[in-house]
Amino acid sequence: MAKDLDKDVKGQTKEIVDEIDRLLAKCGSGKTKLLSALIWLTDIRNRAPMNEVWTAWVDPKNMPARACVEAKLADPNALVGSWSSPRSDTRERSVSADLDAIFERNYARVEPYTLLMMAQVRSIFDRLVEVRELPGDCIEFGAFRGGLSFFLGLCIVDMGLAKRVAMLDSFQGLPPPDEALDAPFEQGTMASDLQEVLRVRAELGSTPW
Ligand SMILES: C[S@@+](CC[C@H](N)C(=O)[O-])C[C@H]1O[C@@H](n2cnc3c(N)ncnc32)[C@H](O)[C@@H]1O
Repeated sequence: MAKDLDKDVKGQTKEIVDEIDRLLAKCGSGKTKLLSALIWLTDIRNRAPMNEVWTAWVDPKNMPARACVEAKLADPNALVGSWSSPRSDTRERSVSADLDAIFERNYARVEPYTLLMMAQVRSIFDRLVEVRELPGDCIEFGAFRGGLSFFLGLCIVDMGLAKRVAMLDSFQGLPPPDEALDAPFEQGTMASDLQEVLRVRAELGSTPW
């Protein structure tokens, strides 16, 4: 049921479909995966305005089996109630569990060698997942100790992708800083060492660089 029962039937229906969207998104699903929907109207004459909102919302290519009946609802101000059942896609769920495992394993390995926080690395990982079917390689400008490039390389191997990683760095640290933007850093801050980066690369094993 809608939370705001002062709304008319269209307003209540809109609130309900928005809530269905929110709940489906929360578990990685969406309205394209709805199998069935049950709709209760306290007055079946409200079917047309309810349908207006429903039809605008539902995915025409993936219409769920739908039943719409007149029934009494617990709150006398409720005009419409709905229940929907999404498809449980076990394959998608296991692919996403595999990806989570790849992320966690490889982030743990490279964490000492990157300045980035876990959420930033996860965001870059998610971009790699998005483009995994596209041709093209990865390049990092300003690799520092190489943690992020090594992370991408390890994930590329684990995901079986035909991509390579290139990493660039001056090994000089920051150039003359702009006081307004870079304070309190000084020239040379975050300088890394090529020998150290090569040592870490050897330690991490077979990676596509
Ligand atoms: C903030 S750190 C990069 C952090 C890194 N991405 C990580 O995951 O930890 C910036 C790096 O950029 C490098 N750098 C700065 N100016 C550069 C330039 N003009 N060309 C190449 N590397 C540069 C620095 O030596 C430093 O290692």
